[in-house]
This record gives sequence, structure tokens and C-alpha cells, in this order.
Amino acid sequence: MIPACRALAALLVGLVAQAGAAQTALTGHGGPVKGLSRAGELILSASFDNSVGLWSLSGAHLRWLEGHAAAVNVAIGAGPGRLLSGGDDFDIIAWDTETGTALRHFTGHKGKVMGLALSPDGRRFASASWDGAVGLWDIDTGRLLGLEQAGSGAVNAVAFAGPDRLYSASADGTLRRWELGPEGLEPRRDVLRGGFGINVLVPGPGWLAYGTVDGHIGAIDLASEAPLAELALERTPVLALAATPSGALLAAGDGQGAITLVRTSDWTPLRAIPASGSGGPIWALAFLDETRLVAAGLAAHAVIWPVDGPAGPLFPGGAGPRFKVDAAGVSNGERQFARKCSVCHTLTPQDARRAGPSLHRIFGRKAGTLPGYGYSEALGSSDIIWSPETLDRLFDLGPEHYTPGSKMPMQRITRAQDRTDLIDYLRDATR
Ligand code: HEC
Repeated sequence: MIPACRALAALLVGLVAQAGAAQTALTGHGGPVKGLSRAGELILSASFDNSVGLWSLSGAHLRWLEGHAAAVNVAIGAGPGRLLSGGDDFDIIAWDTETGTALRHFTGHKGKVMGLALSPDGRRFASASWDGAVGLWDIDTGRLLGLEQAGSGAVNAVAFAGPDRLYSASADGTLRRWELGPEGLEPRRDVLRGGFGINVLVPGPGWLAYGTVDGHIGAIDLASEAPLAELALERTPVLALAATPSGALLAAGDGQGAITLVRTSDWTPLRAIPASGSGGPIWALAFLDETRLVAAGLAAHAVIWPVDGPAGPLFPGGAGPRFKVDAAGVSNGERQFARKCSVCHTLTPQDARRAGPSLHRIFGRKAGTLPGYGYSEALGSSDIIWSPETLDRLFDLGPEHYTPGSKMPMQRITRAQDRTDLIDYLRDATR
């Protein structure tokens, strides 16, 4: 190599290394991050590990919020010192960000809560749920102002576009406009109908953008509700959508791990980066400012990426313990654990942040007695002693039948041999 080239190569390596350092990982969650947002000077992360993480804008961890009984899907700011989260436990919680305490639970949905949006005046918020309903709530009093079915499918997202105008997006392809009147929520018009399911919504100045299960990013003009743009990604669902504060740039995350950046002045895609090295999905995106994007997928951490930086994978390698299990030499029992349990349980005494308690020394332990873990009433008051026989029954019948009221999600392992192999593996691995 001639010297000038070497110097150039060194310079390039230096730039890449520097840009690599500009990427910051938000680590500490014990499961995938499903929702991200910016709230004032905070980044909020909603995780499969049942918690919400609070981080500084530079990515320093500040606090965990514990209170959901299942995976948290969404967390948004709700005025100074307050935020809202919604989860698989059908619950919505308002939190004090200073003390980390739950201020209020908003109960009424009968399905997973997937989306939340704050009204422009900050006094009300809307919720989207897989029970098929859109909810409207008063934040301060906790009052349910309206709960209305929206189309025939699950509702995935809600977005405000003005003080009294709300949009909902459903799995049946409906994009519905609602008006917030004295009677609560009133359906006004289906702007889109009968197309592919809509997963996500994001409002911008004068427009509303959406992403669909068949890989389209579309936008409507808010004044006329006429289509503004439609872009097709590669037939992979759009799972996450975020706009910069000015609305100049849109980022879309998809089911195959790419992040696509779109310029909204002419709705032109600028670049697509293979964000996930394993090809796993990108589940959550949020812009911190005009150039810094925070992204998350199957990994248990989020990454801050300067979008004008180099475009390598943000999540190189595999996706976490659950997905690295097809290597030869892994026993069936270990594979069962890795696939079906490891996302929620560790086997070591130092419990990493997981949704479930550590299974270290589980055999001989009375159910619901690991110190420091917040069990459900059902498990806390159970007389079960964990043994090969009781564990076998747990997954033969399923937690909802063997330990009714338990917050371990419904799951059965129907093949007796898989249960035996799993229990044999646990006997060794939990000692
Ligand atoms: C999605 C998360 C999740 C998955 C997956 C999961 N668990 Fe759990 N598990 C939990 C939670 C949460 C609890 C606590 C339940 C409660 O308090 O009601 C729990 C409790 C338990 C308990 C009782 C522990 C005790 O201290 O009493 C055992 C045993 C257990 N799980 C084993 C397993 C095994 C084995 C698998 C895989 C086949 C598995 N779990 C998969 C979340 C999960």
C-alpha cells in the first residue's frame, strides 16, 4: 500500500472507531425493549422484563419503574415529572418520574395495551388495545371518558392531531378519525379501510404517517385527509416509526432488522441500514433530536445512533440467549430452556433483570418464596414445593390451570419428553 493510501485508510479507521464510540448502548434490561420515547430530558424504555427504564439523553441509567405484571409495550411522557406506560397485563400506569412511584392505574381494557398518546393540552390521553377498543382518559382524575370499539380488529396505535382530533390504527387496516366531544369519543371518518393492517402511527407538521404489516410507509395530509405519499419497503412489516422534532426526517424499523430513513419534504428514502446483524426485528425507535435516534429490537438493550454517522449494524451478532440455541451439541433440555424460559428466568443466584424469579436452587424451594421478588398473590400463598413432579405438572397443565392467578404467562409443553429433558437440564443447571 502506498503511504498516502495508508494514511487515508488510517483516517477512515479512525473515523469509524470514533463513530462507533458515538453509539451508546442503554444496558440493564433483562428482555427485549418494545417501546422507546423521549420525554423532556429523559429517554423511556418499555421492556419485556415488565419494567420501564429511565435514562438521561446521553444514555446513563437513572431508574427502573416496577409495577406491571407482564411485558410493557409503550411508555410516553405526560407532562413534567410524569409518564404513562401500558402493557400486556391490560394495565396503564401513571408514574412519578422523580420518586419512581406509581401514581394511578387506569383499568378498563380487556386486552394488551399497545399504544398511548397524550392530548396536546396534556390533560387527557388515548389508549390503543388488542381488545379492539380505543380508550380516552382524564389523567388527573383517572376517569374513563370513552371506550369505543374501532373496526373489527385489534387496535395497534393512536395519535393526536390537534386538541380534539384523534386517529386510531387497527390490524384490520382501518385508520379512523375520532372527535373528542362532550360525550367522550365520537367516530368521525374512516380515512383508510380494508387494506393491510396498520401497526404504527406518527404525527408530523400537517401530516400523519403510518406503517403497515405488508411493508408500506404512507402519509396523509391532515387538512384534506388525502394521501400524501406511499413507499414500499421489502414486504416486511413496519414495526416502529419515529419522526424528528421538526418532522423533517422519518425513521422506520422493520421485521427484518432494517432502519429506513425518509426525508418528508419530498417523501424520498435517504438510506436504509441493516440495524440488526441477526436480521431480527426492530421493535422501537425514537428521535432524541434532529440527528440522534434510539433503536431497539430483540436484544435486551437499546442503542443511540447518530443517523449521519456510519451505517453498520447497531445490534451485531445474535439476538440474545433465546435465539442462539441451534448449535450442535446443545441438549434438548437446554434448548427447551433457552427457547421457552430464558427470556424471563436466570439460573444463577445473582438475578439479572428478568420478568420472573431466578430458578437457582428451585428444587425443594417452596413456591413464591425467593426473597426480594414480587410474586403474585397466587404464588405467594401457594403450598407447592418445586420438584421434578410439580414442575412437570406446571407445564403439562399450564400455569393458568396448575397455579391459577399466577402472572407467569399461559404456556404448555405438550410433549412429555420435552418436559423430562427440560427438568433433567434444570436439575443440573440450577444447583
Ligand atoms: C414471559 C415470562 C416467563 C416465561 C417465558 C417463563 N416464566 Fe416462569 N415465571 C414467570 C413469572 C412472572 C413468574 C412469577 C409468577 C407469579 O408470581 O405468579 C414465574 C414463575 C416460575 C416458577 C415459580 C418460581 C417460584 O419461585 O415459585 C417456576 C418454577 C417457573 N416460573 C419456571 C419456568 C420455566 C421452567 C419456564 C420455561 C418452560 C418458564 N418459567 C417460562 C415468567 C415467565
